[in-house]
Amino acid sequence: MKYLEIIDRMTLEEKAFMMSGKDTWQTVGYKKYGIPSMFLSDGPHGLRKQAGASDHLGLNESLKATCFPTAATIANSWNIELGEVLGKCLGEEAVMQDVQVLLGPGLNIKRSPLCGRNFEYFSEDPYLAGKMAAAYVRGIQSQGVVSCPKHFAANSQELRKMSNDSVVDERTFREIYTTGFEIAVKEGKAKAIMSAYNRINGVYANENEHLLREILVDEWGFQGFVVSDWGGSNDHILGVKNGSHLEMPSTGADGSKAIVDSVKSGVLPEKILDERLDELLKIVMTTDKKVYTEKFDIEKHHKIARRAATESIVLLKNDDDILPLKKDLSTCIIGDFAKLPRFQGAGSSVVNPTKLDITLDVISDYEINYIGFEKGYERTGGSNQTLVQDAVDLAKRTQQVILYLGLDEISESEGLDRIHMKMPQNQIDLLDAVFEVNKNIIVVISAGSVVEMPWLDKVKAVIHGYLGGQAGATAMLDVLTGIAFPSGKLNETYPVRYEDTPAYHYYPGKEKSSEYREGLYVGYRYYETAGIPVLFPFGYGMSYTTFVYTDLQANEKEVTFTLRNSGTADGAEIAQVYVGTRSEQIYRPVKELKGFIKVFLKAGESQAVSVQFDDKAFRYYDVKTGKWEVESGIYHIMVGASVQDIRLKAEVSIKGTKDYDRQEPYSNYKTGNYYSANIRDISKSEYEEILGHSIPDGNWNKDGLLDINDALCQMYYAKNPVARLAYRIITNMKNKSEAKGKPNLNILFIYNMPFRGIAKMTGGALSMDMAKAILFMVNGHFFRGLKRLIKGFTVNRKVIKEHGKSK
Ligand code: BGC
Repeated sequence: MKYLEIIDRMTLEEKAFMMSGKDTWQTVGYKKYGIPSMFLSDGPHGLRKQAGASDHLGLNESLKATCFPTAATIANSWNIELGEVLGKCLGEEAVMQDVQVLLGPGLNIKRSPLCGRNFEYFSEDPYLAGKMAAAYVRGIQSQGVVSCPKHFAANSQELRKMSNDSVVDERTFREIYTTGFEIAVKEGKAKAIMSAYNRINGVYANENEHLLREILVDEWGFQGFVVSDWGGSNDHILGVKNGSHLEMPSTGADGSKAIVDSVKSGVLPEKILDERLDELLKIVMTTDKKVYTEKFDIEKHHKIARRAATESIVLLKNDDDILPLKKDLSTCIIGDFAKLPRFQGAGSSVVNPTKLDITLDVISDYEINYIGFEKGYERTGGSNQTLVQDAVDLAKRTQQVILYLGLDEISESEGLDRIHMKMPQNQIDLLDAVFEVNKNIIVVISAGSVVEMPWLDKVKAVIHGYLGGQAGATAMLDVLTGIAFPSGKLNETYPVRYEDTPAYHYYPGKEKSSEYREGLYVGYRYYETAGIPVLFPFGYGMSYTTFVYTDLQANEKEVTFTLRNSGTADGAEIAQVYVGTRSEQIYRPVKELKGFIKVFLKAGESQAVSVQFDDKAFRYYDVKTGKWEVESGIYHIMVGASVQDIRLKAEVSIKGTKDYDRQEPYSNYKTGNYYSANIRDISKSEYEEILGHSIPDGNWNKDGLLDINDALCQMYYAKNPVARLAYRIITNMKNKSEAKGKPNLNILFIYNMPFRGIAKMTGGALSMDMAKAILFMVNGHFFRGLKRLIKGFTVNRKVIKEHGKSK
């Protein structure tokens, strides 16, 4: 142990205190041992350092910082170098605000388009997500700041996220839900990782030995520390034992006393506590505590935010080359998003921007024949015929209309999953009305995730800005007017309708669990293999020019080919390399992304490019050997402009790792629905076969009692009528805030919080015994519970007084 000498001098109480936060954001430090305290801050697309009142939900204002486009936006750039540049800017701003650990990037897999936090995540594909995340990590850590990829792992829904059990088979877990993290750890060398709120196959991520030791440390060689998500630690003694270091936020004296008691009783060997502390100190002791007096360059970072947003814009349709806008045609703008941009999502990632570009404020800087604006619709829904009529009148006297549409603030938020994939009906009604009087409609979308577009045939162009950050509005105008060219491609599939999605029947799951029965077939892996038509495929995006692909050469190490810009405008192409093989033994998607490159080419220019394969190119996870294996055989190499638009093909013969004497992992492969990707109605027995054990009952036992890990929103089952009333009150408050069009994150958090959160989220003011006493009352033992609560209160005060001294 590197810090044995310090650890030996520390008391058990002091060591225990270091396993939890000092408060909401800081870690415990001890001057006498030379151990500094670290400041941890969100977040993934801009710094959210709260200098005053603190919370982890983005409620109280934070210091001003550059709001870069969110991860879902940047992933559309497919530009690793850009990811690094953004990481560097985030790191720089963190240093200047004296933040040592940046809580990001977020790289959970977009299992369903409905997850409320998809705007914070990179992709439905682990390779793209991992490469982008690793780039951010390198950039952030180049500034001496620790990057903390999150939420590890299989955290794909917001509903009851703190108690939900992700029931997922090992192969899917490895190939889809952890590969991105593997890339972020191995290629980014992340020094921290945040464990997810949920359980994985029955065990909370923060105390999951398989996840935190066997995979993270033993297989990937992770050398950093694991921090729980805020309130995501369940049993921290087990957490420390199984590889978690830091519980956040602080659980105060109650939390550290529990560790001390468990060491004294032999439940937690002190040697393990010392090892965790040593692992934590290896990072803490190297964090930089530079104090900067100057500020970061606001203008420079704003420009970078603008470039990042520009590169991430995706042109989805452009009939008659209506874009870039023709200067001589009269153009009007309709839509509230042009006046009040939606540039980031709600929740812990909220950034207080240094400045904000607004379309209507800057439109006059552009050389177009702009004649006016109408709001068109109420942002929060509902019909307003006057707004529609005003918009129609304007559209009638204009040659072309730019229609700003999108999802409002309540549609995408931490703490809340979407319930459908539609755009607000009043926006669609407006589009229909404008279409009656003007056929030259260009739709600009602001949304952090996938939407259905049943109106697509009515418009000439669709251009998607996702959530473009503080400079998103100018970036969009740059592309619309041709000052810049569009070069983004979708990081996720746009299905025709939500009903077509692979997890449709399984998402968001039962009351206690979510069964990942669709297995490997997430996103394009499903649509391509099962032959389901989509609206826009993964990897799709248009340009103002065209590209030709020729001269493919492929071997097991790399592919090379030539790209030519065959049009008359400059542009950038994102060429994607997919690999597939027809295996008799191992079911697999027909195509999987294994490489990509973004190439900038002037009109007429050609370039020979090469994409290297890495260890992920041909592997699959074998559940029988418990290892990554490669099958021997012929592999198809497909190079294309999207997963559907394959331009060049080759075959390579690969010698695998497969040992022919061993048993195959699947007995049912030939008839199995997994083999044909017919996965939308997987039976219990089929799923159990690939799961390797029986499916835990995810239904709530209606006659049962509430458990410390049941969510407060499950109090509708409570035996105590007061608790049921409390449930109705919180639900009412939640519904009211939703009706106002703005999510109330406090209520949402409480709603989904398990009872243990009463202790885990109050900084030790309420102890776990008190939380249990409250639960006892909820379960119908009011007076006995109250007695326990009063006793718990007295004991906790004593613990705070005596034990708290060591902090
Ligand atoms: C979120 C994390 C975030 C943390 C601290 C949690 O609610 O899930 O992503 O880093 O709060 O704000």
